Amino acid sequence: MAKYRIAWLPGDGIGKDVMDAARIVLDELELNAEYVPGDVGWEFWCSEGDALPERTVDLLRNTDCCLFGAITSKPKEEAARELAPEFQDQGLVYFSPIVRIRQLLDLHTNMRPCKAYPGNPLNYRDDIDLVVFRENTEGLYAGVEFHPVPDEVRQALVRNHPKMSRFAEVPAQEMAISCRIFTRRGCRRIVRQAFDYARRFKRPSVTVVEKPNVIRETSGMMIREARDIATEYPDVELWETNVDAMAMWLVKNPEDYSVLVSSNMFGDIISDLCAQLVGGLGFASSANIGDSYALFEPTHGSAPKYAGQYKVNPMAMLLTVKLMLDWLGEVESGQRLETAIAEVIEEGEVRTYDMGGTSTTLEVAGAVAAKV
Ligand code: NAI
Ligand code: MG
Repeated sequence: MAKYRIAWLPGDGIGKDVMDAARIVLDELELNAEYVPGDVGWEFWCSEGDALPERTVDLLRNTDCCLFGAITSKPKEEAARELAPEFQDQGLVYFSPIVRIRQLLDLHTNMRPCKAYPGNPLNYRDDIDLVVFRENTEGLYAGVEFHPVPDEVRQALVRNHPKMSRFAEVPAQEMAISCRIFTRRGCRRIVRQAFDYARRFKRPSVTVVEKPNVIRETSGMMIREARDIATEYPDVELWETNVDAMAMWLVKNPEDYSVLVSSNMFGDIISDLCAQLVGGLGFASSANIGDSYALFEPTHGSAPKYAGQYKVNPMAMLLTVKLMLDWLGEVESGQRLETAIAEVIEEGEVRTYDMGGTSTTLEVAGAVAAKV
């Protein structure tokens, strides 16, 4: 029996292209793993009315971790239109499978390293080495939303908050509410992950990125908990910045920052900014980590216009594989993989279109595998 059982979920579009690239490298590394394919994505929404069929959830529950490609998501009305005829008018609502998996398996920590590898022509600067920790199950992505806003919800808000009086007369159809839900537990565990990481890898600082001066209760809670946890880590400095200013600082002096921690939505936005500083979506890897399970996926989506063409950059996926190897404890393999990636980037001979080259997805994977 293989040492690891890994759920293999290519999903949609270029998800399949980059998963093929991952496999070339994993086979070269001879990871002692069984890769168990699973169904997820748009195809299953259309044909079964569920982008994340129950059998796939079972698969996740019966594996050690998951490698995930990408999925296609479309707005509500469009999603409803593309359903197979037998599922039309059943009131099915599309919900992103990746967001669902994060919540179902309580994968509370989203970790997104953004490191500039020397020689990458897409680097904004060569001295950037950031790691973003994004809370992954709460906040604005909790999915507690209303439109139209039910009367009892509105009335409860009006009764309980003076600032709601301005909205007391807005017709239900003309108002939408998305709840930004934070819990102390959620704040504490994401901040702790950031500090643990900083300590382990001797990072000088953790910057908590919120907006407590305006969003007093939720951002305020995150800052309070961060200050409390920081007292346990005298070796790591706690910095606090507002998210809007952070966007500016990241463009001005990205080299000043090291580990960033934020809530779900701000973390999503800031990590895209960070990714672009080191080459964009073709280089952005991510790990969704829970207490006993983890799912690894490149940050990019399914890029439908390139699907099946083996044109896109597999580096994001290969860096994602490195995160998976580290999490599994295969640190030596992870290190070999990262070194090989860095060498291929630096040599600059095998590059996909986004880096100005003409190589295919699988040629890049092959070049990395050859160095591994
Ligand atoms: P996207 O990330 O799929 O692609 C945007 C553009 O970025 C592409 O057209 C391409 O020019 C570039 N790009 C992306 N990955 C690349 C790579 N590996 N190498 C080189 N260039 C790359 O984002 P978009 O177009 O906004 O969304 C397409 C679909 O993907 C949508 O249905 C969206 O909902 C979904 N999506 C899924 C995500 C996921 O699976 N976690 C994340 C983001 C979007
Ligand atoms: Mg994003």
